[in-house]
Order: sequence, then C-alpha cells, then structure tokens
Amino acid sequence: MQALILAGGKGTRLRPLTVYTPKPIVPFLNRPFLVYQIEILKRAGIEDITLSLSYQPDKIEQLLGSGTDLGVSLSYITEPSPMGTGGAYKFAAGDRAETTVVLNGDVMTNVSIADLVAHHREKAADATILLAPVDNPSAYGLVETGDDHRVLRFREKPTPEELATLSINTINAGIYILEPSVLEIIPSGVNYSFEYNVFPDLLDRAKRFFAYVLDGEYWRDIGNPESYLQGHHDFLKGRVPGFEIGRSDESEIATAAVVDSVSVIGKDCVIKPNARVLNSVLGPGVHVEEHAIIEDSVIWAHTRVAGSAEIRGAVLGRSCHIGRNVTIRPGTVLGDKSLLTDYTRV
Ligand code: GDD
Ligand code: MG
Repeated sequence: MQALILAGGKGTRLRPLTVYTPKPIVPFLNRPFLVYQIEILKRAGIEDITLSLSYQPDKIEQLLGSGTDLGVSLSYITEPSPMGTGGAYKFAAGDRAETTVVLNGDVMTNVSIADLVAHHREKAADATILLAPVDNPSAYGLVETGDDHRVLRFREKPTPEELATLSINTINAGIYILEPSVLEIIPSGVNYSFEYNVFPDLLDRAKRFFAYVLDGEYWRDIGNPESYLQGHHDFLKGRVPGFEIGRSDESEIATAAVVDSVSVIGKDCVIKPNARVLNSVLGPGVHVEEHAIIEDSVIWAHTRVAGSAEIRGAVLGRSCHIGRNVTIRPGTVLGDKSLLTDYTRV
C-alpha cells in the first residue's frame, strides 16, 4: 500500500507564514509539519509515500530529501499547474493501480491509519473517508452518513442556511483510503476536485463509499494562523499523545531567566537574565534579551527579541527583529524578517 500527500496548495490562509515557507514544511514544534503525517503512515507500515506538489516544490524536496532519515521512501511529483485535489491524485497515480492512502497535507492527527485501513477492508469499500466531529462545519466538507457508516451526502463548504437545515457535525478530516476503481472516474489532464467532483460522482454511481469517524483522537487543520498556534498549545498541554516533543538542551539559558517546563526551546537559543518564556515554542537560534517576556507564542528560527519587549499570543516568522520595549498583542502574526522599531505596539 502506498500513500499520497496532497501538498500543492498555496497556503494562502496561512500567510504571511507561507510567503517563504510552503505550508507542508512550516515548522510545527520545530519540525517540518509533514513529519507528523509521515510518522502516522510509518506506524501503519506505509513507507512508500509520494508528495504531490505544486507551490515551491524545490524547498520541500530539499528539506525532506529521500526520506531515509525518517525511515520511509519519499518520492515527489510536481504538477505543471495545480490540478485540484482529485486531479493531483490522478496525475500522481500514473500507471500504478494499488490501494492508496491520500492525505490533505495540512491536517494534524494521531489517528491510527492501520485502523482506518482495516475498516476500509471490512467494508470492501471503493473509498473510505475519515470524519471528524467539529463545532462549526462551515469551513469544511460536511458529510452525512447512514446506517452501516455509508456516506449519503458530501457538501463542501456548506452555507449557514444549509447547515441550519441539517443537524450534522461530521466533516471530512482530509484522509481517504482509495481503491483504483476511484481513478477510473477521474478524467485525465483536467483540474478535478475530490470535494466538488469525485465524492459526488462516487455517490451518483452508487460506489461503495464509507466513513470512519474519529472517536476522541486528535484532529486539526493547521491551515490558518489561529489554528496553527492553537495546535501548538494543544501539544504543549499534552492533548496530543503519541508524538515525541523534541526539547533541546543545547541552548544558553541564564540562571536568572524563567523558562517554564512546557515551553520548547530550539537549539542554540540565547535567553538572557530576567527574561521570561512561558507556554511558548522558540525555534533554533532565537535570542531573547533581558527582561523580555514571551508568553503563549511561537517564534521561528533566528528571531531576536530585544530587552523588555513583551510578546503574547503571537506567531513570529524567521529572522525578525523585535526592538526594545515593543509590545505585541495576542493574534499578531509577523512574516519572516519583520522589523519592529523600539517601543512599537502592534
Ligand atoms: N497537489 C495539489 N494540487 N494539492 C492541492 C491542490 C492542487 O491543486 N489544491 C489543494 N491541495 C492540497 C493543499 O495543499 C492541502 O494540503 C489540501 O490539498 C487541502 O486543501 P486546503 O486548501 O487546505 O482545503 P481546505 O482546508 O479548505 O478543505 C479541505 O480540507 C478540509 C479538512 O481540513 C477539504 O478537503 C474539506 O472537505 C475538508 O473538510
Ligand atoms: Mg486545509
């Protein structure tokens, strides 16, 4: 069995973080995001993984390479232009006809892919879709299921009016198990979407299309800054069992600095006396000067925070310069190389 990770989107909603870093490799707890997906695939014994790319493909390939370090075999396929989610699957499949696990490249979950595959086999399904219960389904694909977990209806990004008429909260969690029979219904060489085309087609043709609903496992789409930050907090609070959090001890932390035990500090950071880092993640090489406060935030590599600056609830890109006495409020997102003059308030 092989896996295909759809990682060709532009990451528009995660801007400015994705201006220089494509979404699939934004650092998450200081590791490229896709590493977590690769990890759950590997756990299910799936080591043959293809990444379907379109936006900044070279950066992704350079960073992840052949996959040997991660214990898998990675291949890359780049679309000449975005083919849509279903079109990307068809394009990547070529002549290969085997069962494939397809993942949206921006979902964080600790679900067991092996259990999902077992469910798929048990149902002798053409397609199995992972569903997550959420409070507000409007930003997702709403999926209605019937007896025996059969998918009855798929509605991408339902309007508030549609939602009001349906009392369903299960959405497409962006992981599918697909048989080659699904490939047959996707036309070649055109832009084709799983959500708008393939799934409705499966229902029209009465294919065996089944759902597997998450039952307490963690799930989150990290495709916007609020969700990306919240995902970090979930990890720091220990709500996502099953993944190792890499804490480095190769940093210079002054004895008179306060770094709480949940924060993650990358290597080669410098944290000066009387600085405080609470409930936060610092990438490698971050400098925090005296009396600065960093709370509930994520800061990427090589950013420098000058004395007495206060950063709360923010995400800061790489190599930013935060001047003395700057105040950064919750919800702020700064792109790479941002420069804030002393005493700035944002
Ligand atoms: N290769 C390739 N080519 N990948 C693509 C393309 C394309 O043309 N378009 C999108 N992708 C990738 C994105 O990189 C992302 O990893 C994934 O497909 C999904 O795209 P998003 O843009 O993140 O979609 P969404 O979050 O609005 O909605 C999707 O995910 C939700 C769950 O998070 C849908 O699948 C919804 O139905 C689902 O609920
Ligand atoms: Mg998404």
